[in-house]
Amino acid sequence: MLTTPGDFAEWRVAARGLLAAGVAPEDVNWRGGEDGATLFGDDNVAPPAGAVSLPRELLEIAGRVVCHRDAQVPARLYRIVWRAARDRSLLARTTDADIDWLRKADKAIRRDVHKMHAFVRFRRLGEDAGRESFAAWFEPSHRILRLTAPFFQRRFTGMDWAIVTPDARAIWQDETLSYGPGGTKDEVPDRDIVEDQWRTYYGAIFNPARVKIGAMRAEMPKKYWKNLPEAQDIAPLLATAGARVERMRATAVSLANPQTEKWRTRVPDELFLDDDVKTLGDLARAVERCTRCPLYCDATQGVAGEGLERARIMLVGEQPGDQEDLQGRPFVGPAGQVLNEALEEAGLDRKRLFLTNAVKHFKFEPRGKRRLHQNPTTGEIDICRWWLDKERAFVQPELIVTLGGSALRGVTGKSASIKSMRGAVHELEGGAKLVATIHPSFLLRLPDRARAAEERKAFVADLIRARKLAA
Ligand code: URA
Repeated sequence: MLTTPGDFAEWRVAARGLLAAGVAPEDVNWRGGEDGATLFGDDNVAPPAGAVSLPRELLEIAGRVVCHRDAQVPARLYRIVWRAARDRSLLARTTDADIDWLRKADKAIRRDVHKMHAFVRFRRLGEDAGRESFAAWFEPSHRILRLTAPFFQRRFTGMDWAIVTPDARAIWQDETLSYGPGGTKDEVPDRDIVEDQWRTYYGAIFNPARVKIGAMRAEMPKKYWKNLPEAQDIAPLLATAGARVERMRATAVSLANPQTEKWRTRVPDELFLDDDVKTLGDLARAVERCTRCPLYCDATQGVAGEGLERARIMLVGEQPGDQEDLQGRPFVGPAGQVLNEALEEAGLDRKRLFLTNAVKHFKFEPRGKRRLHQNPTTGEIDICRWWLDKERAFVQPELIVTLGGSALRGVTGKSASIKSMRGAVHELEGGAKLVATIHPSFLLRLPDRARAAEERKAFVADLIRARKLAA
């Protein structure tokens, strides 16, 4: 009796027994239907020793295709393995009707698995003894939960979660993966704390000038939209896309080429700055008109750090983004919003910190009418350290928190990975301490709710460590 539709192990035991007993496909009565397949007479088909050997590739494909909802699957698969046991080249016969069916069914399953990996959105349920728990509702086209659960297990090992589908549920708890009965959508909350940030980011990266509805639908079919938090914004974003493109045309920035007159005729800052800069205010005005590298040619202005003059903690980011470039202040765009929330959660008051960047000008690539962030090179970071060192000399922080790899390079002057520096406290030349962590925009780029929440938690923990160190 096949009791669990889509369970490969169960089908394989039955099929292996039938094969070894020499039972031809036409003599097996598989009964299909919505409730799955029933194999009659299976009590007599326990696998004898010396089971028939089959090509490994076929077993792998069968392991996936058994999840297909087509009620004929157990019987068709059995016919194929029966034939393959007698014809080792069967899989290569692409014009064979059974093989054609098998390949198409496998493709449908692999596509469904890919979509599930991409579109499961976890919602936070709560926290127990320091361990967070999440749940997600998902409606795959086929019974693929057992195929996909190990992917989520690898990715979200450090938290408890459940994925509920109409057919079954996967539960990862106490480091154990188990399966249970199917459920309903209302078992899973439909909002959570990180959702608004993700929607803000989606709105910010949505480019009205590059809307390709066909491609978008193909990649993100409409059936998944109802469970994607960002999907509710698609219709309003599309509805206003035309007007936004018009507005972008009207206010289009024209970009200078770094090799232009503007760069060649610049006045080197060193010639006049040192004497003029007596306060942080002087420094900020000097940064605004910095011409130390070609990045100034395209950016609106240099963006200096801001905050408490003698802050104990200095936070160093990478470079101003689009909003910061326009407003002339650090961390006022989407990444700034994430940072503000994390600071609050960590018990740090932004007004009592000094926030700055490793690079003072926005580096971007014009894409249509948009300005897409580009990472600064180590050369650009090293040139800009001149400013960062001056800010450090004025503020004299006891502790510097670097946000992301560019900031780490800016502060230390060395290439080191965040991973190798994170979690420990380092001492900088001059005595200040250093805590290295991720950049908040990294959190915005993570579409997986659970992963984003896990990373966010680690980020807040780094900020808490910084607060305690500087206390
Ligand atoms: N990202 C940064 O690193 N700095 C900012 O000021 C804004 C975004």
